Amino acid sequence: MLTRRTFLSGAGSLAAASLLPRSLPGALQPEQAVGSVDGAGSLRAHATARGLFYGAAVDTGMLRNDPAYRALLAQQCNIVVAENSMKWAAIHPEADRYAFEQADELLAFAEQHQMQLRGHNLCWHEALPSWFASTVNLGNARQILTGHIRTVAGRYQGRIRSWDVVNEAISLEDGRTDGLRVSPWFQMLGPGYIDLAFRTAREADPHALLTYNDYGIEYDHPASFTKRAAVMGLLKRLTADGVPIDAVGIQSHIDATTSGLGPGITAFVTEARTLGLKVFITELDVNDDNLAADDPATREAAVAEVYGQYVTAMIANPAVAEVLTWGISNNHSWLNNSKTHKAKHPGRQQQALPFDANYQPTPAFYALRSALDSRKG
Ligand code: G3I
Repeated sequence: MLTRRTFLSGAGSLAAASLLPRSLPGALQPEQAVGSVDGAGSLRAHATARGLFYGAAVDTGMLRNDPAYRALLAQQCNIVVAENSMKWAAIHPEADRYAFEQADELLAFAEQHQMQLRGHNLCWHEALPSWFASTVNLGNARQILTGHIRTVAGRYQGRIRSWDVVNEAISLEDGRTDGLRVSPWFQMLGPGYIDLAFRTAREADPHALLTYNDYGIEYDHPASFTKRAAVMGLLKRLTADGVPIDAVGIQSHIDATTSGLGPGITAFVTEARTLGLKVFITELDVNDDNLAADDPATREAAVAEVYGQYVTAMIANPAVAEVLTWGISNNHSWLNNSKTHKAKHPGRQQQALPFDANYQPTPAFYALRSALDSRKG
């Protein structure tokens, strides 16, 4: 049977010669593939045509070392975000030293290709540098947090479309009635660290859309429902207190089994819009760990179905105009890195993103492109 994968293994060698897929020979097109995937057929073109942004998280090491990866991003994205190079551990490696090289390279790449850039992120409990625990304390936490935000957001002032100012501040497991995560920042500065981060970011870059970003709120099952309510409670508190916040990021690390994706998240988007907030899909990928099938094509089809359903439902709301996947090709997904994700089937590559390990479009590419097209004018 000629599957998309075996077919493209042939076309892939042609595409490898030209670095990227240009178009699939019409006569032999697999059932999922429709026409060219670059130029007018790219996710970038389809997003732009409908006033939307499509982009991906970028591994700046790959950006430096892999021309085909670079070309794919330029071909497909009108917005990008640093996967890791703007996090504290990367950009602030020593208490008195910043390292901007990788972030600067990503910004240069984005501006060279007329792309927007998301900043990720200014305040998080993870990816903290090795000096943090032994240096930051009750007495200096405020000065270190504001100093970091002023330095980083100030450096890129006017050149960042949106910043994830605070990332993942809600954790129901920590047992607070407001759902706030008892993170190092919370322990040293109290709940007001969130207000401080946003106010400092606004001062440092008045142009950027200041975003609160979180995960695990997409489903209608109890945990997701409760976390979503806590996130909305935080957004309402911040807006009521006049904290400068412009957007909420729904990370959208979702599951190929589709169980539980329902009206709750679209209602959340509507409520966020009533608060005057934009809504970004910031880290979309579809995890196929829970699928029994070992056959990649079967899992790709299930993943594509979820891409189509989820993105179509979300962009039906005018508040949602930005869709970023967390990576662009499966071989660079955090889900396929044993150091960052404990897979249920370690021997199986996750089929989570719009391009496969050969930078060939997956069924998710076509489903995502069709979903972008569903945006009403
Ligand atoms: O750069 C160092 C390298 O010098 C060192 O040799 C190596 C040792 O393993 O670690 C490297 O840093 C790793 C970094 O990714 C860059 O590859 C960290 O250990 C690793 O923890 C880090 O993982 C990232 C993770 O966030 C934690 O920051 C993942 O790539 C990234 O995909 C993931 O992304 C997060 C979002 O930021 C927030 N939402 C959830 C999402 C998935 O977890």
